Amino acid sequence: MSGTLDMDALIDDPDTRVIVCCGSGGVGKTTTAAAIAVRAAERGRAAVVLTIDPARRLAQALGLAELGNSPRQVEVAGFEPKGSLSAMMLDMRRTFDDMVLAHAGPKRAEEVLANPFYRTISSSFSGTQEYMAMEKLGQLAAEGSWDLIVVDTPPSRSALDFLDAPQRLSTALDGRMIKLLTGPARAGGWGLRKVVSAGFGLFAKAVSTIVGGQMLADASAFVQAFDGMFGGFRERALKTYELLRSSGTAFVVVAAPEPDALREASYFVERLAEEQMPLAGLVVNRTHPVLSGLPAAKALGAADNLEARGGAPLAAAVLRLHADRVALAQRERRLVTRFTKAHPAVALAHVPAMASDVHDLGGLREIGDRLAAE
Ligand SMILES: Nc1ncnc2c1ncn2[C@@H]1O[C@H](COP(=O)(O)OP(=O)(O)O)[C@@H](O)[C@H]1O
Ligand SMILES: [Mg+2]
Repeated sequence: MSGTLDMDALIDDPDTRVIVCCGSGGVGKTTTAAAIAVRAAERGRAAVVLTIDPARRLAQALGLAELGNSPRQVEVAGFEPKGSLSAMMLDMRRTFDDMVLAHAGPKRAEEVLANPFYRTISSSFSGTQEYMAMEKLGQLAAEGSWDLIVVDTPPSRSALDFLDAPQRLSTALDGRMIKLLTGPARAGGWGLRKVVSAGFGLFAKAVSTIVGGQMLADASAFVQAFDGMFGGFRERALKTYELLRSSGTAFVVVAAPEPDALREASYFVERLAEEQMPLAGLVVNRTHPVLSGLPAAKALGAADNLEARGGAPLAAAVLRLHADRVALAQRERRLVTRFTKAHPAVALAHVPAMASDVHDLGGLREIGDRLAAE
């Protein structure tokens, strides 16, 4: 049966250079990534955490209130790690801009950045955020200032999007996209002109000609300026992809003890195996363990008894609550068992649901303790 995820062994191992926290939306990826980074720093590593979408209060707790697209040392009262911790929040837009700057000459970069087509596509491609997270990871790794990079992944519907993004974006950015982009523009331009010549006034005709012409000009300027950068993009994506496959990388899949999240985790685990990407284990986050061994049936029986005698309504309510918790815990255990049966080699860690959201150092430490417990 499945073993236990030894989180401390993972973060203490100097050969662990990258930890990627992935999983479907809302399961606790950002929280887990931050908790791992805090723990790693306190255990002596020079860690950096790349967060994608931290909740506002968590961002504030890490000193990320101001947007910046590069890591900053976390300086919080009461936080004196043996190692060090830097944190950053991904600014997708600026990462894309930086990438253009790095690949085009200054003059061409300026043209691309100012181009309305670029401004639209750089924020509206599906997968752009995933791709930019990858790109940033590549940059942080190349910078070499940290010995452990902990990566949060975007809130995609599917955890797989992160792995598919480089391929998808490089396909989108090559000739096919250009055809798509220029195609509708041209069609729109011609279409407009046709409509106009079919009977609108001269004024409208002049306006539409300018608009249509401008669209065409933007599109072709964009194509020209972008041309020649694709190779560089693809090369970088490939390099980051290799980093993800290297033995210094560990994927931590996060899931809630719920059918959808665990199904998604299953797919992801299988996909990692296919891609030969190193999986550290599965974190089942926000579980509801029961503290007392009193079986549900006994608790319900006792509640019935109390109520039949017309006394102690509060005690009866507590007993019923306990019975609900037992049922929930059993359901969660069943779901996790279903997962481990399908993936017996995957190591597990369980993190209970905390009484409130996790948005400060204390909360992150507690999550870290739970991650490393057992
Ligand atoms: N074990 C936990 N106990 C209580 N709250 C949690 C726990 N894990 C995460 N949360 C809270 O759940 C919310 C979503 O977590 P988050 O890490 O942002 O998820 P994701 O990044 O996967 O979308 C946050 O408000 C976070 O504080
Ligand atoms: Mg998140």
